[in-house]
Amino acid sequence: MRYLTGGESHGPCLTAIIEGLPAGLEIQASDLDRHLARRQHGFGRGGRMKIEKDRVEFLSGLRFGRTIGSPLTLQIKNRDWDNWRSLMAPEGSEPPEAVHLSRPRPGHADLAGGLKYNLEDLRLVLERSSARETAIRVAVGSVGRLLLENFGVRIYSHVAGIGPVEAAVNGTAIIGLAGMIEESPIHCADPDAGKKMVLEIEKARDEGDTLGGIIELVVTGLPPGLGSHVHWDRRLDGRLAAAIMSIQGIKGVEIGAGFKSAALRGSELHDPIVMEEGSGISRPSNRAGGLEGGITNGQPLIIRAAMKPIPTLASPLPSIDWKTGEQAAGATERSDVCAVPSAAVVAEAAAAWELASAFREKFGGDFMEEVEAACNFYMRHVKRRLRQEPGE
Ligand SMILES: Cc1cc2nc3c(=O)[nH]c(=O)nc-3n(C[C@H](O)[C@H](O)[C@H](O)COP(=O)(O)O)c2cc1C
Repeated sequence: MRYLTGGESHGPCLTAIIEGLPAGLEIQASDLDRHLARRQHGFGRGGRMKIEKDRVEFLSGLRFGRTIGSPLTLQIKNRDWDNWRSLMAPEGSEPPEAVHLSRPRPGHADLAGGLKYNLEDLRLVLERSSARETAIRVAVGSVGRLLLENFGVRIYSHVAGIGPVEAAVNGTAIIGLAGMIEESPIHCADPDAGKKMVLEIEKARDEGDTLGGIIELVVTGLPPGLGSHVHWDRRLDGRLAAAIMSIQGIKGVEIGAGFKSAALRGSELHDPIVMEEGSGISRPSNRAGGLEGGITNGQPLIIRAAMKPIPTLASPLPSIDWKTGEQAAGATERSDVCAVPSAAVVAEAAAAWELASAFREKFGGDFMEEVEAACNFYMRHVKRRLRQEPGE
């Protein structure tokens, strides 16, 4: 499966074209809108989210709520477009009232993008580098998620840290707390830590500053055997890390024990393989986080990602004026103070897409019943091998 997205932050809309979905997958706009709304919530977000109430529309590939095998085109209209029509017009000449963004913000693509594309107005970099693009990526990932949900896969996330505050609840323990996490303003499984996170964000906001944090994802119900050890670009650990690292502001991704594993001995880190009466071959621990050798091993997938603090600061860092070269303060824009809860929803979508792609590679098929038959056959084989039963 593959997809491309288009659209600027203050343009008319965001668009995506997805290719490779099996025919017969049931999709409703409300399935996607639910996750778009989750992306817009979270303590620490700024004024833009009050304007945008994201809704997806289907422009192709869907008839009467089912995919038909042709490219699925998704669109999310930018409600803010009305305020930007003249400044962001695709044609005509620039209006006299246009004000260029000329003080690149440290931590954003403004300076490097202006150099690369030889742009006078650095807003033209911001318009595409902005995390507004994550709205359409959430819509795309939610399609992958729907496919996986048909096969019992479930994706959970929470905020495991904001600035210096860390949650005491982690890993698969968050599964039973999913309802509470959705109610939490900071999307955290630990209510005490959640309250401290909110205070930390308020403090940063009052001081004109911003915060980052840690996201944790847990995925259950994945069959063993997604991804492959045979070539670097088929390894699912690398593919998941790239998908999540590509989210605006994410600076680190770890799977299972991740960076902590470097300090452990092999005998302390690796998960033993044991034969259990009744259930067969099993793994009593999951420090690998569900992936060994780039292949899912049937254990829950556990991924953590670090998000840097938001670069647009109310009290800006030193920068320069792009037109005069003189020292100046970085530009300020309407901005979030902390977007880690939203980034968690984006990371769910990025992981969902990559897992759905790996699922399609494993089971193939052009229509849902064909995918189901291949998956059922394989799962019977896996169960038989794990129980060491003779072949059919
Ligand atoms: C959901 C979400 C919302 C964000 N909101 C803002 C924002 O309002 N202002 C801002 O400066 N950066 C925001 N960011 C972060 C920037 O997009 C990010 O730091 C920037 O693209 C550079 O990141 P990079 O160095 O990882 O490419 C947001 C990121 C995400 C995922």
